[in-house]
Amino acid sequence: MDYFLYRNGSLYAEDVAVADIAAAVGTPFYVYSTATLLRHFKLFDDALADMDHLICYAMKAASNQAIIKTLAQAGAGMDVVSGGEYARAKAAGVSTDRIVFSGVGKTVDEITTALKGGIRQFNVESEPEMVVLNRVAGEMGVIAPITVRVNPDVDAKTHAKIATGMSENKFGIPISRARKVYETAGAMPHLDVIGIDVHIGSQLTDLAPFELAYQKVAELAEQLRFDGHDIRRLDLGGGLGIPYVQSNEAPPLPADYGKLIERTVGHLGCEIEIEPGRLIAGNAGLMVSEIIYVKSGEDRDFIILDGAMNDLIRPAMYEAYHEIIPVIEPVAGAEQALFDVVGPVCETGDTFAKERMMPLVNAGDLIAFRSAGAYGAVMSSEYNTRPLIPEVLVNGDQYAVIRARPTFDEMINRDTIPTWL
Ligand code: LLP
Repeated sequence: MDYFLYRNGSLYAEDVAVADIAAAVGTPFYVYSTATLLRHFKLFDDALADMDHLICYAMKAASNQAIIKTLAQAGAGMDVVSGGEYARAKAAGVSTDRIVFSGVGKTVDEITTALKGGIRQFNVESEPEMVVLNRVAGEMGVIAPITVRVNPDVDAKTHAKIATGMSENKFGIPISRARKVYETAGAMPHLDVIGIDVHIGSQLTDLAPFELAYQKVAELAEQLRFDGHDIRRLDLGGGLGIPYVQSNEAPPLPADYGKLIERTVGHLGCEIEIEPGRLIAGNAGLMVSEIIYVKSGEDRDFIILDGAMNDLIRPAMYEAYHEIIPVIEPVAGAEQALFDVVGPVCETGDTFAKERMMPLVNAGDLIAFRSAGAYGAVMSSEYNTRPLIPEVLVNGDQYAVIRARPTFDEMINRDTIPTWL
């Protein structure tokens, strides 16, 4: 459920008309709903209420500081995967003892910065990373709290580009070697081995792979305790999927996911962390775009938008489906037709939808891509020298631009011309 609904025939974000935002900031733009962000956060918080827990929002999904601050004020910690995200979380006022650092390739610089600034834990992904972390912590005279990310070799049954928990994927250490790796970690004087981390993929629409993975983690936790490790925290990753197609997709509910966690690892008495990104931000954001032309082709018609693949790359990159709705509600029984919905970028991949049934629309109309709040703005680029599009946050009847559209000069002046030219 989200807070983007038609009222009197016009699409609203909470109590603000999307068309009013478009008139004020221009198109295309992203708009997020505070109430939806908070609602989704609370679903997870309630789902884990019976366990000692921290929900570390995977900032990579949508990392504007206004979004981070909204969630942090509601009680979220953060999952970061780069020095940049760490800096952003701090800038948004997140306390560093609520930031976990994930990622398969943490650099010495990133490790040093996090050890200096404070960190809840590093989710270590390899033995070489462990060696570097132990060395840097030693040089600084501190102890680094770690979990080890294990790869449980479970098929998450999601898009190949976002599955992470199979042995062929680059993530974590094979669970079959975990006891040996923990023994090595346990012997490193500047590491404090506090738990286990796992993340098997993103946009999971079935709970079964989670169940399998968490059972394996529970088994491992008992073995590691037997081996003498004080396993007291489990980071169970993110990945719960969202309905991209409103009508017939029904991914599992956070409440059921919470029960599964309790059932599989609850008996261990560990502190539980999870790292959801998409389920919190995905349906909390729209991308709004204006139709520039409607063009008749040989065997199909095209809706050409001012938004493009550089603004929302998910359809081009993952063949992702985003529901596309007009900002002015079509009247009941309005005529519909099949269209290809495309952007203006000079490549065929700049296609948002093929043969999509859409109401008959005209140049100048506004349309909205639903479920664009996660992995939308954060994955955008300036390809074709198109400015990054603005982000707007709505809260009740107020809204604010939380990232402004750069001017052409701001974009162009980042280049520097060498003296020989
Ligand atoms: N934790 C770790 C270690 C992750 O790698 C990810 C996502 C998450 C948590 C959050 O997963 P979520 O709850 O959002 O599914 N750009 C792709 C998705 C990439 C996900 C990468 N890792 C997309 O647009 O679908």
